Amino acid sequence: MTEGSFQSRDSHDGDEEIWLRRARAGSVPRHVAFIMDGNGRWAQKRGLPRTEGHRAGVESLRAVIPALVNLGVPFATFYAFSTENWKRPAEEVRFLFDLLVQYSKEDRRELMERGVKLRAIGQVDELPRAVRAAIWELERETSSGRNLTVNVALNYGSRQEILRAVKEIARSFVGGEIDLEKLSEAQFAAYLYTAGQPDPDLIIRTSGEMRLSNFLLWQGAYSELYFTEVLWPEFRPIHLYKAVVDYAGRRRRFGGIEA
Ligand code: IPE
Ligand code: IPE
Ligand code: MG
Repeated sequence: MTEGSFQSRDSHDGDEEIWLRRARAGSVPRHVAFIMDGNGRWAQKRGLPRTEGHRAGVESLRAVIPALVNLGVPFATFYAFSTENWKRPAEEVRFLFDLLVQYSKEDRRELMERGVKLRAIGQVDELPRAVRAAIWELERETSSGRNLTVNVALNYGSRQEILRAVKEIARSFVGGEIDLEKLSEAQFAAYLYTAGQPDPDLIIRTSGEMRLSNFLLWQGAYSELYFTEVLWPEFRPIHLYKAVVDYAGRRRRFGGIEA
């Protein structure tokens, strides 16, 4: 993993170029969320330790971020560590956090140059000090990014996020700051980590699993779901473009009827 290695990933092979053009021609989602799954299986298929799958997964992230910028998607969320992922062996958890610290150092400049603003969402205060420091630094350095906002869901669980919002609302109520009768969905959403952002139009999950695993349950109420058998370490811009083309072909009714 060397700095500046983004550049080479900008060169599209023919197929990729075609799918990019198709994706741009249709309706481009304002917010794409990714459940980056299948790292362990990717490694196991190769006789490697699971951790090598996570390392390879970082390369997919590196390839997909510029692709989102190319497409003109303004918001993206990547599910990197769930509140349930603490059930994994301590070494694997530690490896994931180390990888994040390493990524934040190696890719900071690149993210800044591309106008990418990075934020962590989740119970970040429960993470090891070195991880918190790396995130804080990365958030600060990229805060002026205007092309793409990337949420990294870290120690994130949707139920925890909703419960946290409810507790905060209860505190505000006790303090006489809010009128419960007037509390709207929009006001509730302002208590979530994604406050001020559009809901995900498209949620992509790799590796063939078809579930949400406690991801963006409130925000995803009307998201289009896209499942692919591709394992996260194999996921490349062309797969994103294909997902976006699929998305653009869908009819989102939001409970209404066809116009
Ligand atoms: C996703 O890959 C990465 C994280 C959850 C951190 P997995 O590690 O879940 O890979 P599989 O699902 O076991 O193949
Ligand atoms: C979801 O993947 C969490 C992340 C991608 C970070 P998991 O691999 O943890 O989900 P389950 O256990 O298969 O539902
Ligand atoms: Mg998994």
